Amino acid sequence: MVSILTTPLVENPLRFGLRMRRTPNPCILVLFGVTGDLAHRKLLPAIYNLYVERRLPANFSIVGFARRALSDDDMRNDLKASVEKYARNKPSHRPGVWDSFAEGLFYVQSNFDDPEGYKKLAARLSEIDQQRATLGNRLFYLSTPPEFYSMIVQQMGAAGLANTRPISSTDVPISTNGTGPLNGAFVPLPETDMSWRRIVVEKPFGHDLASAQQLNRQISEVFTEEQIYRIDHYLGKETVQNILVFRFANGIWEPIWSRRYVDSVQIIVAESLGVEDRASYYDTSGALRDMLQNHMMQLLALVAMEPPSSFDAQSVRDEKAKVLRSIKPFTPVEVAQNVIRGQYGPGAILGQPVPGYRHEQNVPPDSDTETYVAARFFIDNWRWSGVPFYLRHGKRLPKRVTEIAIQFRPAPLALFQHTAADELQPNVLVLHIQPDEGISIKFESKLPGQDIRLRSVDMNFNYGSSFGIETSDAYERLLWDAMVGDSTLFTRRDEVELMWMITTSILEGWQRVPPPTFPNYRAGSWGPSVADEFIARDGRQWRRV
Ligand code: BG6
Repeated sequence: MVSILTTPLVENPLRFGLRMRRTPNPCILVLFGVTGDLAHRKLLPAIYNLYVERRLPANFSIVGFARRALSDDDMRNDLKASVEKYARNKPSHRPGVWDSFAEGLFYVQSNFDDPEGYKKLAARLSEIDQQRATLGNRLFYLSTPPEFYSMIVQQMGAAGLANTRPISSTDVPISTNGTGPLNGAFVPLPETDMSWRRIVVEKPFGHDLASAQQLNRQISEVFTEEQIYRIDHYLGKETVQNILVFRFANGIWEPIWSRRYVDSVQIIVAESLGVEDRASYYDTSGALRDMLQNHMMQLLALVAMEPPSSFDAQSVRDEKAKVLRSIKPFTPVEVAQNVIRGQYGPGAILGQPVPGYRHEQNVPPDSDTETYVAARFFIDNWRWSGVPFYLRHGKRLPKRVTEIAIQFRPAPLALFQHTAADELQPNVLVLHIQPDEGISIKFESKLPGQDIRLRSVDMNFNYGSSFGIETSDAYERLLWDAMVGDSTLFTRRDEVELMWMITTSILEGWQRVPPPTFPNYRAGSWGPSVADEFIARDGRQWRRV
């Protein structure tokens, strides 16, 4: 094994360094669905880490908004327990820090469809502005079940919460479909220098193309596109951001990053976990919607995009959208040729028996929801024409691993064909996203000795050992970016719709044929055998990870 010595960590003054030094303006985070799992496991721990590490203003405040009857103190106590459990920085380590953080936590109880609740919220926010000088800045976060998204946004619009100035009688109402005014008189206003309002929307963003388009329309009646932050937590992962740095801060990759040198690309997101306690959501979603439509399509776009003209939100997202636009939706026949689905049956993970999907809690015993998907995409542009991108994801696979492997074409001449070396292994560049974060390159090397005998070796860069710092959680980066108004790592409207256009064509193809006989892979195996046969037909095989 060859390892790479890294130069000492120097802050990149161009982008990342400058971003690190900024502190967001004072603001209130309004968390719809504060009692839910995401808020407890991810959002509050991330916020608290930012707070402890002094990346938030001292008067930063949170208003939780949910249906349960709680007092401010009840919410503080509940959140404290979760932060203690899930955050890097524990309240018990520095109780004084938690206490000052908790002074900025408030709760508003309301049903999501109750206009009075939003008035109460507006009044509470103004009070907090007065008490804590939060300057009218608001970051709204939709972390409720998705069926409430449009209702909440509409209610916010009607209560004037999205605007940085009150609605005036001269504002012109806008319409849902361009044919007439809406009931509520609200107008999306651009952010002003004085104060800002932004909204973060959690996934799933729609259920298919039509519902995603509808949600986009509904949100855009209340917020401008600049105010909308569609979150994809994969984009907040350190190693995912490094894809861009790796590709565009180094000159050596660009010339070989194309169909001339690349044979194929494999993106795998394997999980050893099953559906846990999320079956009621997962069974209506499935692997395609849950992972491929969003996280994996984003990984593909980052790997395949052209260099942007600069690292601002518009340029980066323009290039990602261009890649997604170059993937043609499948016809039903193409779905059968290019996409495989699977569902796990009983098996074992790390020697422990685990039930099949249909026996998980809250899963119907005849469910045809897929827990595995493998697909082959082609990007119809000059750089990638003819290069297959294989995407593979499944639950209850043998281990948790996410990586992107770029396999290069073989050397043009097999010079060593009369030696033991005539079975040359291809060069593979692997971007290891998680859990062993790093980058490796596989190449052939001569074994020491008289004969020409070859062996594949790996050149490795490893985040942990090179930088010696723990990478922060994706939600920390993304929440902070939303507070400073940087939407580069959030998904734009056209991207979301393009990703759904591709995935909806798969869903439609599946609807036309009876589902495969499920279960078709054993928990703890690498997926259904049809997936192996599928890639073998191309003369390739799945990478061993
Ligand atoms: C979520 C999916 O978006 O991502 C989950 O809904 C999945 O099903 C999770 O387990 C994986 O995220 P990570 O960061 O653990 O790879």
